[in-house]
Amino acid sequence: MSSPVAQAPNAAGQPEKAASDADRVYIFDTTLRDGEQCPGATMTFEEKLEVADFLDDMGVDIIEAGFPIASDGDFQAVSEIAGRVKKAVVCGLSRAGEKDIDRAGEAVKGARRPRIHTFISTSPVHRKYKLQKSADEVLELVHFQVTRARNWVADVEWSAEDATRTEIDYLCRCVETAIRAGAGTINLPDTVGYATPEEYFEMFRTVRERVPGADKVIFSVHCHNDLGMAVANSLAGVRAGARQVECTINGIGERAGNAALEEVVMAIKTRHDVLPYQVGVEARMLNRASKLVAAATSFPVQYNKAIVGRNAFAHESGIHQDGMLKHTQTYEIMTPESVGVSKTSLVMGKHSGRNAFRTKLKELGYELGENAFEDAFNRFKALADRKKHVYDEDLEALVDEEIATQQDRMKVVALTVIAGTMGPQSATLTLDIDGAHQTVQSTGNGPVDATFNAIVKLVPHQAKLALYQVHAVTEGTDAQAEVSVRLEDEVEGKSVTARAADPDTMVASAKAYVGALNKLFAKRGRLHAQQSA
Ligand code: KIV
Ligand code: ZN
Repeated sequence: MSSPVAQAPNAAGQPEKAASDADRVYIFDTTLRDGEQCPGATMTFEEKLEVADFLDDMGVDIIEAGFPIASDGDFQAVSEIAGRVKKAVVCGLSRAGEKDIDRAGEAVKGARRPRIHTFISTSPVHRKYKLQKSADEVLELVHFQVTRARNWVADVEWSAEDATRTEIDYLCRCVETAIRAGAGTINLPDTVGYATPEEYFEMFRTVRERVPGADKVIFSVHCHNDLGMAVANSLAGVRAGARQVECTINGIGERAGNAALEEVVMAIKTRHDVLPYQVGVEARMLNRASKLVAAATSFPVQYNKAIVGRNAFAHESGIHQDGMLKHTQTYEIMTPESVGVSKTSLVMGKHSGRNAFRTKLKELGYELGENAFEDAFNRFKALADRKKHVYDEDLEALVDEEIATQQDRMKVVALTVIAGTMGPQSATLTLDIDGAHQTVQSTGNGPVDATFNAIVKLVPHQAKLALYQVHAVTEGTDAQAEVSVRLEDEVEGKSVTARAADPDTMVASAKAYVGALNKLFAKRGRLHAQQSA
């Protein structure tokens, strides 16, 4: 096997010496593109900027900011991110068409380190049914797309979509064509999550061995999780010489998702004995990244999710607790602190002041502006008055919500619900809509129905309620309820999800519903503004 190349192309397209050369693995985050592509995980413009800033601070090497031809909203997000990211390469995705590539080029051109990621399907099934093109026609397009992208930027990544189901000889010809046309990174995705680690390893080994010029480019892995093997496959690709891993925070993505960034990073850091590679990501920010993305997408993180799930460091059984008390290494292969989980979970109460609150927020990874801090502090005080113990999770829910609602046009001001055995249940709701208070009363089949009917009365809309989910943020009857609401706008083909937390389940429900409407209108507003422009 030829030796791995670990040099990232710089803005001039020339490989830049990496910190520790051959062992450096570049982390390519596609949360804002492949992640956002999964149904219900859409983010607003502001949320995308916030996630991009965080990823840059965390040390991600390449941020795939979106698919600029997909919508004007995507284009704007990619170009805004390109203009503000300080360290990472900013990448825009494109298919093989002229317009696609030019749109991606336009979107990333303001970046300090711009990249175009251009892809085409190479497998027989995709060539025949999706592209309806012969193998030779696809090969010509490979040459065309890379050449055209190189006219825009020096740093071009080429992907063979469905590489793992492509005939190996043909895949090698495509890769050779892309390298000759000037691609600096070659990505071989397991698009449908079909490969096993051994097969994925073998594909990279063969391509790197056979293709002339393979030693001059960086190979990249991109794995989907349909069979639960995305991270294992990604690491197998790295062992075979790939030096870029495409992944997403919390593993969000099409269908079963993509390889989870936090799992890839922590596998490399924790098992350095068998995975002797270097990554530039600051692992102590992983927990915060997970929370940020979960809040922005309103996609809850599974409790037992590796690294960032709420149970990832919880030891429940007596035997485990006993072992942990004797020596933490009995059941802990990495410390909670190493991924940014603080050990203490109960610290704040109604007597805590501004200073303690600010320090606690810092510990949890939040830095708020003065106004947002004051609002969050007031809400914390109100919560502490109603709830005996305020846990870290309560504060996180509270601040995430504060951040999410800063740009909103509509806010819940007051809600009174009459519930019980004597229906119909009723709700009196006051919303602040564009700065004016409006109140209505409504009835319904249960308190949630009455509350949601009141919202519809105040804000008539066509969107359908596709998901309503409640769970407790912490334990106890005074726990905050965290409610997720997903709305589907069939006319515009959009779906949005929002979350909100409050000790009162009805208030949390109203806030989550109104949050989803805010997201929907923000999306529509941008879409319509762009259409009329
Ligand atoms: O899964 C895939 O093949 C992709 C490509 C666009 C890289 O996401
Ligand atoms: Zn993908």
